[in-house]
This record gives sequence, structure tokens and C-alpha cells, in this order.
Amino acid sequence: MFIDTHTHLYLPEFEADRHEAIARALSENVNLMLLPNIDNTSWEPMLGLCAQFPQHCFAMAGLHPTSVLPETVENELEEVKNRLGNGGFVAIGEIGIDLYWDKTHQAVQEEAFRFQLLLAKKHKLPVAIHVRKSFDEVWHILKQESNTDLKGVFHCFPGNLFQASQVIEAGFLLGIGGVVTFKNSGLQEVVAAVGPEHLILETDAPFLAPTPYRGKRNEPAYIPLIAGKIAELCKISLVEVEEITTQNAVKLFGLK
Ligand code: NI
Repeated sequence: MFIDTHTHLYLPEFEADRHEAIARALSENVNLMLLPNIDNTSWEPMLGLCAQFPQHCFAMAGLHPTSVLPETVENELEEVKNRLGNGGFVAIGEIGIDLYWDKTHQAVQEEAFRFQLLLAKKHKLPVAIHVRKSFDEVWHILKQESNTDLKGVFHCFPGNLFQASQVIEAGFLLGIGGVVTFKNSGLQEVVAAVGPEHLILETDAPFLAPTPYRGKRNEPAYIPLIAGKIAELCKISLVEVEEITTQNAVKLFGLK
């Protein structure tokens, strides 16, 4: 069994064929799908999908860094906090810092990230961290807030080998998706050097589809393509990648 540890299946991109996309995932042996929240617009579709597929879809609670705006951040974080109080979430996510499009709100993004790390510690949940042009900023805050209880994944890991070794040493995992199938991404040498022991699989659907679907809509059924590339890079079998990454995800997110 595979686990897609990061998919936004509740987004409008899947409006026409969401159930078929889940059926395709199941037929590819992708049995569990973890759904990270984005902001106040995504709670209902995300939780609705989890209610429809309670054996297969599991929700995270969090505010995505690109949805952090000074005008709404307080309400958004209050909502995260309240929803967490109801229980039933497998992680805090996705949270982090994104400086790719815009640095205007860096300070408030950092504050929101710190606040949600505290929630993770309070609720003893792992974190799914979004890093985009922000590794040093994320790392700085994580080191300040980290304790032995705090575990998580650097989703769509964007770093180099040195950063990967720092992340691993701190007990965090690397989330590997379609980017590993892209030539010249730099991720291939990181994965080859790190090996499967510190990796979990993810699509980040509908974004970042693996080769040969690059540029098209991504979906959880493509997880075996990502696993296949990891097997090739690490010179091990597909079954080994499946077993090790699934075990890693089960342990991190406390899945059954
Ligand atoms: Ni995402």
C-alpha cells in the first residue's frame, strides 16, 4: 500500500471527477490520502471529503503561508485553533513560509508559522511544512521552537544535500513528489544520497504532476510513478520504496 501524504483533492480542479480520481488511486494501491488545509475557504470541502471516504481520506488543520494576510490572519488562526479542539486531525498543515511571490508579509507569515508550531506541540501532532524560497527563515524558527516532541515533514522538499542532512538530523522527514522525476531539479541527487529511510511520498495534487504528465493536473494515482523514480535513484525495488515510505508515513502521522 502507498500513502499520498499531501494532496489537495478537495480543490475545484477535481470537481468533475473527484470520486473517479479516488477510484484510480485505490486501483493503483494508493489507499490513504492526507489532505492539508489551505485557509477558511477549504475547511468544508476538505472535511466533507474525509466524511465521505473515512477509510481513505484524512485531514490536516492549518493555514497555508500564501493565505496569510494581515487583515485576516487573526480570524484564520482562531479558526485553526478552534477546529483543532474538535479533534480528528492527523497533522498541522500546511504551514510555513513562502517568499516566492511576495515578501511583503514575511513578518506576519513568520508569526503565523510560529503560532501553529505551538499548536502542534500543544496537540502533539506532526507538522507539514511548506518551504518556498524560505529554507533559512523556516529553519531559524523551527530551531527556536523545536523540542523532542515536534516531528514533521518538509513537504515538497526544495533543498540541497546539506539542508537535507540538517532536516534529517533534526528528526524530520522529506516529502518527495513529482519534482523528483524532473531532470535538473537537483532533487535526484539528494534522494539518491539520502535513501528511502527518511522519505515519504506525496503528489501535492493538483500541482506538480510527475513525468510523463508534467504540466498537466496531478492526482494521487501517480504516486507509483514517484516511487518508481525513487527506486531507480536509490537502486532498490519498487516494493522496498513502497514498504519503507508507507511505514515512515504511518509512524509520523499515527495512521492505522
Ligand atoms: Ni500543498
